[in-house]
Amino acid sequence: MAKAIGVDIGGTGIKAGIVDLSQGKLESDRIRVDTPKGATPKDVLNAVVEVLDTLDVRSSNLPLGVAFPAIVKNGKTLSAANVSDDWVGFEAEKFFEDGLGRHITFVNDADAAGVAEVRHGAARDVSGLTILTTLGTGIGSAFLYDGQLLPNTELGHLDYKGDSIERWTAYSAMERESLSWEDWSARLQVFYSHVEFLFSPDMFVVGGGVSKHPESFLPLLELNTPIIPAIHRNSSGIIGAASLAND
Ligand code: BGC
Repeated sequence: MAKAIGVDIGGTGIKAGIVDLSQGKLESDRIRVDTPKGATPKDVLNAVVEVLDTLDVRSSNLPLGVAFPAIVKNGKTLSAANVSDDWVGFEAEKFFEDGLGRHITFVNDADAAGVAEVRHGAARDVSGLTILTTLGTGIGSAFLYDGQLLPNTELGHLDYKGDSIERWTAYSAMERESLSWEDWSARLQVFYSHVEFLFSPDMFVVGGGVSKHPESFLPLLELNTPIIPAIHRNSSGIIGAASLAND
């Protein structure tokens, strides 16, 4: 059975698991630790070591994929929205490879989630353009055209009144401002209508922890594009990172 390890670093939590790649699902427990305050590279590396130790895979030679909430180009992180500014222009892949003493594959977190859903989840048989969005601490996005990933799309940073729209529309905004589902959905409507107009996708897939409660907000949205929850919910990033590491 093909297996790989996936680690999903988020603004709030760091999650990891061993993935059965033929089934596209976790074959271990899903391990989680809080993302260290400030999320500096050194602290994040230590937290990744901790989750790998808990899974007992630190010296395993299975492929290891690490997903991170920033633009990732050729192993370098080029942005930092919900993590320390130290990550901007940082050789992140090399830093983790040196720190872990092994090869890794380093990718954007939403891209990883998109790959999981297109290979093993909600968007498996969708042709044309699938846009996956993760609604969590920020908003992440992945574009998949006929199953092929177009990386680093960053729709959470579309402008809204001079700021990134994720500040106003991510799930963290709902929590921070104690919004009702209706009030939050009205914000999501602005976001998704705009994205729909710009890209005419064939399918929206919604990931992130809040995809556990699709009935509370998806029916409130009025779109011409079908919008469905991610199947792997909070594990998409782990599964997609593992899957990309095995490519
Ligand atoms: C980051 C993205 C990330 C998203 C979800 C955004 O703030 O810029 O790279 O995918 O948050 O974590």
